[in-house]
Amino acid sequence: MDDKAKSRQYFNGHSSTGINRNGYWSHDYKATTAVLLDHKVTNHIDIGCGNGAFLAYLHAAAPEITIHGLDYSAEMVSRSRERLSCADIVEGDAEKMPLPDEAFDGVSCHMSIHHYPHPEKALIVFRSIQLRM
Ligand SMILES: C[S@@+](CC[C@H](N)C(=O)[O-])C[C@H]1O[C@@H](n2cnc3c(N)ncnc32)[C@H](O)[C@@H]1O
Repeated sequence: MDDKAKSRQYFNGHSSTGINRNGYWSHDYKATTAVLLDHKVTNHIDIGCGNGAFLAYLHAAAPEITIHGLDYSAEMVSRSRERLSCADIVEGDAEKMPLPDEAFDGVSCHMSIHHYPHPEKALIVFRSIQLRM
């Protein structure tokens, strides 16, 4: 099994445990949301969205923003979809983004990129889908 498959297996097993259940990352979600609102983002994607914790936070704070998520773990995708029926959640690899270029005006990636075997490929992808600053 390669590193990416091991990562997927690991996160499939953790989709229901609530990775952020103690709110460890809430301050980061708050700061990211403030930046997105400041830049008047309208169509946002969270890469490595996990079980949708950040997207749920963002949606509660700014329901006018259209939200999308992408995750490599099918179980995480399933949890996100259950949690956020209003969001478009896609199963896929951040290193080979299965979405069109320049489709979003906001991109976040929270506690996920360090799990990618080739993060430089994901950075190229993030650039191609463009973060307005
Ligand atoms: C520590 S969790 C963080 C989840 C979420 N961002 C949050 O704030 O709760 C890392 C997530 O990255 C996802 N991930 C790992 N490798 C990935 C890849 N190559 N492409 C997309 N997602 C990936 C995992 O499946 C997992 O859901």
